[in-house]
Amino acid sequence: MNTDKPSRRTQVLIIGGGPSGLLLSQLLERSGIETVILERRSREYVLGRIRAGVLESGTVELLREAGVGERMDREGLVHEGIYLAVSNRGFRIDFKHHTGGTVRVYGQTELTRDLYRARDAMGGTILHEVDQVRIEDADSGSPRVSFRHEGRERRVECDFVAGCDGFHGVGRQTIPADVRREFERVYPFGWLGLLSPTPPVSEELIYASHERGFALCSMRNPNLSRYYLQVPLDDATENWPDAVFWDELKCRIPRDAAESIVTGASIEKSIAPLRSFVAEPMRWGRLFLCGDAAHIVPPTGAKGLNLAASDVYYLWQALKQHYLDREDEGIDTYSARALARVWKAERFSWSMTRLLHRFPDQSDFDRRMQQAELEYLETSVAAQASLAENYIGLPY
Ligand code: APR
Ligand code: PHB
Repeated sequence: MNTDKPSRRTQVLIIGGGPSGLLLSQLLERSGIETVILERRSREYVLGRIRAGVLESGTVELLREAGVGERMDREGLVHEGIYLAVSNRGFRIDFKHHTGGTVRVYGQTELTRDLYRARDAMGGTILHEVDQVRIEDADSGSPRVSFRHEGRERRVECDFVAGCDGFHGVGRQTIPADVRREFERVYPFGWLGLLSPTPPVSEELIYASHERGFALCSMRNPNLSRYYLQVPLDDATENWPDAVFWDELKCRIPRDAAESIVTGASIEKSIAPLRSFVAEPMRWGRLFLCGDAAHIVPPTGAKGLNLAASDVYYLWQALKQHYLDREDEGIDTYSARALARVWKAERFSWSMTRLLHRFPDQSDFDRRMQQAELEYLETSVAAQASLAENYIGLPY
């Protein structure tokens, strides 16, 4: 699209150049549907984000369909299970045995890089460092998006607007307050994350529940490890020099892992809050919300990126049906269809968070309930099969 003129037109205007926006644009353009992406940040900033990359099989299939699966297939790590640990004693949940399925570990940063490369290869229009984005007449037949770019006021007329602009974006706020319903739970703790250029302590992820708090051992690749500790909401990274972090992690994970872990200097350390959030509906007129714009999950279930992928799949199919088949059943059912899967993933993520973390206001009874549920999980095939089918991803 030539953006030299103040006002131009496209078919689908996508706000947000994160995983949701990039993947939706890539799939639509491969279906012959024109898009423009407006991104608030620079490409370097977007690619500098450190985020989890545990991909469900549905996400893997969709990335291959989008033509960006080659490096993921080559470099991604196929995981057939995870470990849970209770008070330093671990047990494995075997996805392959219970479901026949697996997940793939491939950093979201790399996935975003692959999507940018694919968009560039197709000559995609991505405007970075835009601001003052405003969605106008979304509930009419001809929505418009105004914004400033390179010091000039611009406007794009379009058929549809995709709000792929994350939790703090403008998309969700465009849906009138009397139309929108929001559901939220903010957790009374955060995750202190550390990235280290060291080999992972285990070939598969370890989710550890401990009296001192939750811990997670993950990775990005065979030479880059990612670790997390549950910390109080008012904690700060300054309180956690590397040596203190490593010592605390060793207290919370299984003994064999604590004895074998390779520690090293951190290359990134940050604290993130945990929240469960859903906004309904995910459609208003010709505006559709995808990904973090509509919902947030605590990272305990590794669902954030995977929910963005299923939203994108549903919207891609709906818009393809509109343009190619002149049918609007997909558009009309998009919100209900996406939310049905979102709420199941919200439940799983909330359940895993409630099970594995120490809550400050936890009663002795609550603690016994956690311990009983963890013992049930360790000894029940049915309980492990249930966790496995949710972790690898429920069907689209
Ligand atoms: N105008 C343009 N771009 C915007 C605006 C705006 N008003 N507001 C936000 N953005 C951009 C952000 O800079 C970001 O790059 O929208 C993008 C939204 O990307 P994400 O927040 O990554 O959300 P999403 O693409 O849905 O991906 C979800 O990312 O946050 C993780 O855990 C989450 O893994 C999940 C995935
Ligand atoms: C991560 O590798 O950052 C990660 C993995 C699994 C999670 C959360 C984060 O559940």
